Amino acid sequence: MEGFQVKGGEKLKGQVRLQGAKNAVLPILAAALLPEEGETVIRDCPEIRDADAMTGILGKLGCVCSRRGAELRLNNRGLRHWEMPDELSKQIRSSIFLLGPILGRMRRATVTYPGGCEIGLRPIDLHLKGLRALGVRILEEGGVIHCEGGGMRSGPVYFDYPSVGATENVMMAAALLPGLTTIHNAAREPEIEDLQGFINAMGGCVRGAGTQVIEVEGVKKLRGVSYAPIPDRIVGGTLLCAAAVTGGEIILANACPRHMIPVSEKLKEMGCRILQETDRLILKAPDRLKAFSQLQTQPHPGFPTDMQAQMLAASCLAEGTSVIVENVFENRLSHVADLCRMGADIRVSGRTAVVRGVKALTGARVTARDLRGGAALVIAALAAQGESVVGHIALVDRGYAHLEDALNALGACVRRVKTDTIDPSE
Ligand code: EPZ
Repeated sequence: MEGFQVKGGEKLKGQVRLQGAKNAVLPILAAALLPEEGETVIRDCPEIRDADAMTGILGKLGCVCSRRGAELRLNNRGLRHWEMPDELSKQIRSSIFLLGPILGRMRRATVTYPGGCEIGLRPIDLHLKGLRALGVRILEEGGVIHCEGGGMRSGPVYFDYPSVGATENVMMAAALLPGLTTIHNAAREPEIEDLQGFINAMGGCVRGAGTQVIEVEGVKKLRGVSYAPIPDRIVGGTLLCAAAVTGGEIILANACPRHMIPVSEKLKEMGCRILQETDRLILKAPDRLKAFSQLQTQPHPGFPTDMQAQMLAASCLAEGTSVIVENVFENRLSHVADLCRMGADIRVSGRTAVVRGVKALTGARVTARDLRGGAALVIAALAAQGESVVGHIALVDRGYAHLEDALNALGACVRRVKTDTIDPSE
């Protein structure tokens, strides 16, 4: 197992460039199944484990994927399978995003339940409801989902909850479907806008992404293109929190400030000065952060659940008491126990955490239990007195490309080391 050895107490300073967004790249890789002609080139594709897992599945379906650094090339002329490989699709929850494009291209698909993960049960009922509304006949038996799309037709789709994944799946399933599909109560995350941008760049006709109503006018065919995803607002938010807790001053280059407003506003509430430029964001931290009154996670444009853990870690050293409510996932506070091992004062009741800020944290051996929780432990370790080891960083590598390099470029002291940490999920 690998871990990060972190020497705490360095003020972060300098500039770092943001990677392409994981949560944009994963649905884009799925949508790259849709064109029958041309090669797809994803520029700025982050070198993260989730992207590798996704290309692994695409390879099994018959696509040819090649990577050179941050450039990924994909040719799906050889696409001939519609059954998703069980062992691979279980590795990554986002494999479910492939259901829509496989149905869109091949009018049939067989997938296994992606299953839950550390942060919650993560059902897919909304995905299936959306596809059924498009005329897909779905048979669920023994953990396998058989989809028959011979009778697929465009039309209205209404979501009871603005699920990101379900919205993306229906957008992709409808892209090649003759007629107009209208998605009501759609998710509005920036990654949805980026998927619209990618489908339209391939010759599709999608509009309204970023609002609650998305319209997909089906087209006859799509063509592979070269495309760069939006910058990763969650990686950006993580680095801002790291600078904030260390009393630092950093510049995020290749950033999209508009996408990061919920996080910037919270950090301003904590006393940080934030300057926004076209594609840069500058943060200057105060000597000591102030507590924010309350943080509630919600679908975009509310506060992103993927930044909850990092903000909770920052509030551990703030002056005063912060209240954090996790509304989106039912089990996303597992980082609290490890933060308390470092000396934080946190009480949890259900999905609510009450954080009383302390003057200092102390370095300790802690373990990542999920992707964003792991990032939060790294943030706390950067501010702690002494040395920490954050174990099981394979979870962090799922979404952060070489996080230690980005932090060390800002003056931190983080080393990747072998640890005897056992895998908490075993
Ligand atoms: C996407 O997951 C992101 N993943 C998640 O990021 C992010 O936390 C989430 O959106 C919310 O912003 C990717 O884009 C790859 P949802 P997704 O469907 O699509 C419930 C990270 O750390 N739900 O909007 O799975 C669900 O259980 C990851 O980068 C149903 O009940 O999120 C959850 O409570 C973690 N039925 C809520 O809705 C469904 O059919 C939000 O899920 C689908 C979802």
